[in-house]
Amino acid sequence: MYNIREVQKDIWWVGASDRRLQLFENAYATPDGMSYNNYLILDDKTCLMDGIDDAVSRQFFDNLTKALDGRELDYMVVQHMEPDHCSCIPELLRRYPKLKIVGSQKAIQMIGQFYHIDVDSIVVKEKDTLELGHHTLTFYTAAMVHWPEVIVSFDSSTGTLFSADAFGAFGAMSGNIFADEVDWEHDWKDEARRYYANIVGKYGVQTTALLRKLEALDVKMLLPLHAHLWRKDLNIITDLYKSWASYTPEKKSVAIFYGSVYGHTGNAADILSMKLAELGIRDVKVYDVSKTEVSYLVSTAFEYSTLVFASATYNAEIFDNMHTLLTDLKNHNLSGRTVGIIENGSWALSAKKKMTELLGTMKNMTLLEPMISITSSVDENTLAGLDDLAKALAESVKV
Ligand code: FEO
Repeated sequence: MYNIREVQKDIWWVGASDRRLQLFENAYATPDGMSYNNYLILDDKTCLMDGIDDAVSRQFFDNLTKALDGRELDYMVVQHMEPDHCSCIPELLRRYPKLKIVGSQKAIQMIGQFYHIDVDSIVVKEKDTLELGHHTLTFYTAAMVHWPEVIVSFDSSTGTLFSADAFGAFGAMSGNIFADEVDWEHDWKDEARRYYANIVGKYGVQTTALLRKLEALDVKMLLPLHAHLWRKDLNIITDLYKSWASYTPEKKSVAIFYGSVYGHTGNAADILSMKLAELGIRDVKVYDVSKTEVSYLVSTAFEYSTLVFASATYNAEIFDNMHTLLTDLKNHNLSGRTVGIIENGSWALSAKKKMTELLGTMKNMTLLEPMISITSSVDENTLAGLDDLAKALAESVKV
């Protein structure tokens, strides 16, 4: 049965949520599921903004059929060709054989790559328009937010921006599809950050370029492909995006990540966190990298100004899960953080050297002294070192 909602005059939400999904992109934990937004514009012409994932396509087709109410589907704008939005294209073409697909040259090319079909297409470039009647869509390229073919679409008659993956979040929605209908900052901000950092985070330069383009538009409503729609206080999400895209930390505090085999490196992390608390640092976080899924760690690293990496030496390398975290941070272009280092090893300490080398390949990372070396477990010497590291960390946070 259909489940649709009018977003504003002539524009309907026809999306769906998937609460069974365990891993988005088969990579990122989605304990609260995932939502997919589609929008149907009912004007002189009908126009569908993007498709949906296979897993929820039955709901989507029920919704679309109801919203069209017997009308032909004239256009589908493919803003983004990732299959979570496009796997329904072959079925759409079967149901609506006169459908014209609108997208960038790369998007049309990717339809051929994925589905080995020719489509009746309209290729659009920067500032090209599509007349629907009372609504005219103007397209803006948004390459690498999140794939190279991405465009966003602006309806100037209503100030509506269809923003593709930008401004999305992990998590299924529950009827309250507008951000102003939920306690967004309390319940959703963390998942919006985790989504941005992991999915788009590598492409901060491109995201910043898109934000600059949007500043020239009178945007009154933001309609992303995932999670909540914004019709009020748009600056809440756009300001966060400015921080995330420029790798500017939201919080001046310390996040400690430890990779520990038998708990001794974890012990050092806990001791350090207590010393920081005693020095007046609030909101300190400690994570076991073997316990918490790495996408949450990446998100926290985007949030915090100051990071500590504490790792056991393992096979003369960085402990595996810590290596994964550091590599992920590098791959997501994280920059401009102050960093503390702790290593542990019972016979051949090498984690510090390897971590320092990896962090050295990232931009504008400030490595603090002292770096702490533990042989097996924390002793009085280590405690004195942790004291000094805590002071250096606290000083950097208070600057
Ligand atoms: Fe929601 Fe990049 O796909």
